[in-house]
Amino acid sequence: MASPQSSKAPKTTSSEVTRRELLEVAAVTGGMLVGGHLMPTGASPAAAQAPGPSPAPLKVALRVNGTDHHLTLDPRTTLLDALREHLHLTGSKKGCGLGQCGACTVLIDGKRVKSCLSLAALVDGREIMTIEGLAQGEQLHPLQAAFIERDAFQCGYCTPGQIMAGVACIAEGHAGSPQEIRDWMSGNLCRCGAYDHIVAAIQDAARVSGTVRGG
Ligand code: FES
Ligand code: FES
Repeated sequence: MASPQSSKAPKTTSSEVTRRELLEVAAVTGGMLVGGHLMPTGASPAAAQAPGPSPAPLKVALRVNGTDHHLTLDPRTTLLDALREHLHLTGSKKGCGLGQCGACTVLIDGKRVKSCLSLAALVDGREIMTIEGLAQGEQLHPLQAAFIERDAFQCGYCTPGQIMAGVACIAEGHAGSPQEIRDWMSGNLCRCGAYDHIVAAIQDAARVSGTVRGG
């Protein structure tokens, strides 16, 4: 079985990277890490607001991936919209917007959270991590590397949420078997049906992190 840190790890510094390699790295980093440059991921539409008079804006301090951001937001702004529309961190995806698909999963104080269901104003001062903050420089997180090694995505839309949820799943100690991983990852849907590969990638990364025995 291949290790997630095998020679197939992405060549993010090579000038000879192929389009496939660029797409792979973009999928697992939310478009952040492509040859050390930000890869455009497309602008998303402005947050839809309910009709009627707007409430007074709120000052909100968001600490995201170790950086403090001071924003003035409509108090109804979700964390997902704050990340995508205001901080331009578009790795977290808006799938359903209803808490059902997991595409928007981020970590708050190390716990996985569906950011479409969280109000930005309520996570003021908490430690938020998005897919853009997972790699250390050009060194992918073991689970990002495992997703590439295991071909754990097709279109890649669900991938940032799967990876953030997978990181939490491993940290929680819920990656002891394929069935346990499936159970604890059931809140993250993949329209492309890459589940077998996602489970294999999480198993690989869990072994690397030492949270499971053998396998
Ligand atoms: S976009 Fe948040 S759960 Fe689907
Ligand atoms: S890879 Fe396409 S939705 Fe999961």
